[in-house]
Amino acid sequence: MSGNRTFTMIKPDAVAAGHIGAILAQICEAGFKIVAMKYTKLSAEKAGEFYAVHKARPFYGELVEFMSSGPIVAAILEKDNAVEDFRKLIGATNPAEAAPGTIRAKFAKNIGENAIHGSDSDENAIIESNFHFAGVEVFA
Ligand code: CMP
Repeated sequence: MSGNRTFTMIKPDAVAAGHIGAILAQICEAGFKIVAMKYTKLSAEKAGEFYAVHKARPFYGELVEFMSSGPIVAAILEKDNAVEDFRKLIGATNPAEAAPGTIRAKFAKNIGENAIHGSDSDENAIIESNFHFAGVEVFA
């Protein structure tokens, strides 16, 4: 059975462009409940740790630099079938391939600066949520 929580970050490009409000509105209108949220900035070290799974990829350095370049909004979201439904809502990693109306189609610049992150599995949703939030910061 699929889980009911996912983890997201509104990335530095979308924050800098002033899209926090529009993106959160689209997330809430799609039926997701925010159970944890913070406005924060990742150090290069923390960004490197979060994306360690991509360490061998050619874009890793660029990704770490970008993700630590400015503030982000991190949140845990709750909804039935959260991981899959949220990935549909945000669209493909490359905004050029994202379906019309999805968050990345509307707000992302390119495959690297792609506005928003969404967990790719229930297991990673838990790992990523625990990376950013302590239990007392989550309000079910
Ligand atoms: P995200 O869903 O946060 O997970 C990994 C990130 O790596 C991805 O979004 C993109 O921001 C980034 N990424 C994936 N592929 C590329 C690529 N080819 N070039 C640059 N960045 C990439």
